[in-house]
Amino acid sequence: MTREHEVPVIEARGVSKYFGAVTALENVSLKLYHGEVLGVVGDNGAGKSTLMKILAGLYPPSAGEIFVEGKLVHFRSPKDARDMGIEMVYQDLALAGNLRIDENIFLGRERVRKFGPFRFIDNAASLKQAKEHLEKLKIEVKSVRQKVEELSGGQRQAVAIARATAFDAKVVIMDEPTAALAVKEVRKVLDLIKDLKNHGISVILISHRLDDIFYVCDRVMALFRGRNFAEAPLAEVTRNEVIGWIMGNKSPVTQAAKIFDLN
Ligand SMILES: Nc1ncnc2c1ncn2[C@@H]1O[C@H](COP(=O)(O)OP(=O)(O)O)[C@@H](O)[C@H]1O
Ligand SMILES: [Mg+2]
Repeated sequence: MTREHEVPVIEARGVSKYFGAVTALENVSLKLYHGEVLGVVGDNGAGKSTLMKILAGLYPPSAGEIFVEGKLVHFRSPKDARDMGIEMVYQDLALAGNLRIDENIFLGRERVRKFGPFRFIDNAASLKQAKEHLEKLKIEVKSVRQKVEELSGGQRQAVAIARATAFDAKVVIMDEPTAALAVKEVRKVLDLIKDLKNHGISVILISHRLDDIFYVCDRVMALFRGRNFAEAPLAEVTRNEVIGWIMGNKSPVTQAAKIFDLN
């Protein structure tokens, strides 16, 4: 089933990115549809993280355009992207270990109560809302008052995802979310990603682990040396083909795959 006629929730069109003499991306396009989990694969240095950082407002593209729900956007910072519902969960987690779970979820977005000229952080409201949000996502922790440094890697990743989805996120971008996790924790994080769909959130997942890609994604696209290489609905491609794409090998090729001309 092709969704080409739909307006993507986020789209990159002809994006290039140069770091001095280094071409990280050249004329790359990406479409993410509503409620879709898109896997992005590619060898080290293929440009995956750079593309995600552009979508999340961390870098401006050197050329090309970004659209959110069909509207051309110019993100000047991750805050601009976040304000439009585009969130990124970073590889290094970026949580504050010495703070509680609820404080991490609200970090930089504290609920404030006004009392005359004074402003208080509304702890009770944050605590309640954090608890409800974790329950909604079926994330199990002993207490939202626990400090993040007491959590396992998988729980931390879950809290990072909870943080990303606590404020009307439309898109969550995850760069290698399972890379640092113990095997038995990986499945929980992947199930959480699957569940985001039920909350109307679209996901871009970068992973080296094809098990992850084949477990959660609806579609997979490969970058090769900073360019679009191939993409296909997951149901119509084999693991070996995707491994081939990562190495820059176009054949054998499924009928449903879209293969790009590298020239
Ligand atoms: N901030 C940067 N400055 C200079 N070069 C960079 C920077 N970020 C990435 N690159 C280069 O851009 C290319 C793509 O990198 P990256 O997007 O991290 O690839 P991937 O995530 O697929 O491994 C690589 O050649 C990398 O060295
Ligand atoms: Mg990377």
